[in-house]
Amino acid sequence: MELRLVGETRASRRHLVLLLLLACAYASGIAPASGSGGRWDLLQRSIGVSAMHMQLLHNDRVIIFDRTDFGRSNLSLPGGRCRVNPRERALPGGDCTAHSAEYDVAANAARPLFVFTDTWCSSGTVAPDGTLVQTGGWNDGYRNARTMPVCGGSDGKSCDWSEKQDALAANRWYATNQILPDGRAFIIGGRRQFSYEFYPKADPSDTSVIQMPFLVQTRDPEENNLYPFVHLNIDGNLFIFAKNRAILLDYKRNKVARTYPVLADGDPRNYPSSGSSVLLPLKPNPTEAEVLVCGGAPSGSYNSTKGSARTFVPALATCGRIKITDPSPAWVIETMPSPRVMGDMILLPNGAEVAIINGAADGTAGWEAAGTPNYAPVIYRPDRSPGDRFEEQAATGVARLYHSSVVLLRDGRLLVGGSNPHTYYNFSGVEFPTELSLEAFSPEYLDQSNDMLRPRILDPSPVGAASSVSYGTTLKLQFSVPASARRRRGGAGGFGLGEVSVTMLAPSFTTHSFAMNQRLLFLEVGKTAAVRGRAGTYNVSATMPATAVLAPPGYYMVFVVNGHVPSEGIWVHIQ
Ligand SMILES: *[C@@H]1O[C@H](CO)[C@@H](O)[C@H](O)[C@H]1NC(C)=O
Ligand SMILES: *[C@@H]1O[C@H](CO)[C@@H](O)[C@H](O)[C@H]1NC(C)=O
Ligand SMILES: *[C@@H]1O[C@H](CO)[C@@H](O)[C@H](O)[C@H]1NC(C)=O
Ligand SMILES: *[C@@H]1O[C@H](CO)[C@@H](O)[C@H](O)[C@H]1NC(C)=O
Repeated sequence: MELRLVGETRASRRHLVLLLLLACAYASGIAPASGSGGRWDLLQRSIGVSAMHMQLLHNDRVIIFDRTDFGRSNLSLPGGRCRVNPRERALPGGDCTAHSAEYDVAANAARPLFVFTDTWCSSGTVAPDGTLVQTGGWNDGYRNARTMPVCGGSDGKSCDWSEKQDALAANRWYATNQILPDGRAFIIGGRRQFSYEFYPKADPSDTSVIQMPFLVQTRDPEENNLYPFVHLNIDGNLFIFAKNRAILLDYKRNKVARTYPVLADGDPRNYPSSGSSVLLPLKPNPTEAEVLVCGGAPSGSYNSTKGSARTFVPALATCGRIKITDPSPAWVIETMPSPRVMGDMILLPNGAEVAIINGAADGTAGWEAAGTPNYAPVIYRPDRSPGDRFEEQAATGVARLYHSSVVLLRDGRLLVGGSNPHTYYNFSGVEFPTELSLEAFSPEYLDQSNDMLRPRILDPSPVGAASSVSYGTTLKLQFSVPASARRRRGGAGGFGLGEVSVTMLAPSFTTHSFAMNQRLLFLEVGKTAAVRGRAGTYNVSATMPATAVLAPPGYYMVFVVNGHVPSEGIWVHIQ
């Protein structure tokens, strides 16, 4: 609770005293401290389903789902409907509760969705047409593909998941997906699956998988290489990180194009020693790409959480950053303000910040396997000089441990949900109850003090249909900045207008500490032109990425950024 107080108190003597107390507490153990940047809001005390997996779609609704076989959730299926699935492990006789929900951001309301087979620890991609394609799961859901359309209009309250039984060639439980330039999903790994495959398949009866020795090589007795981190490089190859090292895969020829060195001391960074990873923002017409991997847990940590001598080992506080396009790449190590396992890394729309949020300061992913939540997010600023990149943020009071997740919303907030380190929904008698709540973390750029600098996109309309764009074409944007309008009347034009950039961001499928398909591109922008007769209003044109390798087809959010303050995004559809 003290942590929360610090987060919410302005600089004051009390703040200083608390900070000193916390500094002492911190020095005496691993309990992380917190700063004062950003703000937490509780959006919903309970949406009835714990947010193990989340994906924002271009109707500004977030598809949320959990596993289906831990008993009843706290959200009833509509109209007295029940799921009777004899292969269901917990309630084979019938389950009348929902295990998926659609959260409407503007209405701050959720409605139940129906999934039949088990979606536990699965993965997903948004297809080029905007449909969520979820793959894999457990038990009767191991090889299934499920699609969730973008609901709206007359079917807005009735549309739901469809399932395809045995659509995949292999069981995919703890696998990772990455959308490819041709719009298909690349699906890699899963428990005891040392292979990859593609979905959808040209021939539905195609049951072939491609073996991947790298996953055998990086497997250890605790596994520690599940949910590999995958990023589409600017050369079209796939950067794949598992356990403590990475390769560049030419998936078209099934050839390893490059082998990267081991990250630092070899400590594992993938599930259950879950760290997280992002492809850092790409510059216009990029010639370089960098990956950042943060947190994780030392080897042996997962085993230590089991048995009678159960202990929670402090998590890793290090990040590794690597130029994946470099012919002789090397990891550069940086240290976070606090250790973190099961954190999530989310690219913020200003292109200048990465949020590192959720998770614990000790233990690992797994049932009852962590003891010290890390309540305070950290912001990482990749362009600052080393040593000046991390900044601790205000803390929440809600533990977001195993099975928590986070996605970026179009308004720049982070939607934070989930956390259930138990095999069932347990609300009492446990230290970290199952979380059905949703919170929003608003980064500092959303502070009121930035309101005068905040750009607002006027055209295309942020509430209209997504703008259709093609590769290499120009998107004209008109936006306003309140500070400029004010000052202009007094004579001095352009006041409050800093460097203008335009970013384009693919929303992620987030689960188990990895935001799949997340991608941020800076677009090339022309000169910002003041619109005559409309104080504080400007035109700017942005050039769309040249190829589908840079930006696979689909829906992206586009933001105008004034200095470091982003506008609300607009949806664009690139094909
Ligand atoms: C969930 O439902 C149970 C049983 O109806 C109830 O005791 C509990 O308070 C609910 N919890 C939440 C977080 O909604
Ligand atoms: C973890 O435990 C398993 C089974 O008990 C054992 O096979 C394995 O060697 C242990 N791994 C480590 C890293 O201690
Ligand atoms: C959680 O609830 C289930 C079902 O009510 C119970 O069997 C289990 O022991 C509980 N787990 C914990 C960790 O208390
Ligand atoms: C700004 O854009 C609008 C709409 O596309 C256009 O009519 C106007 O001429 C532009 N003005 C300037 C100064 O570029």
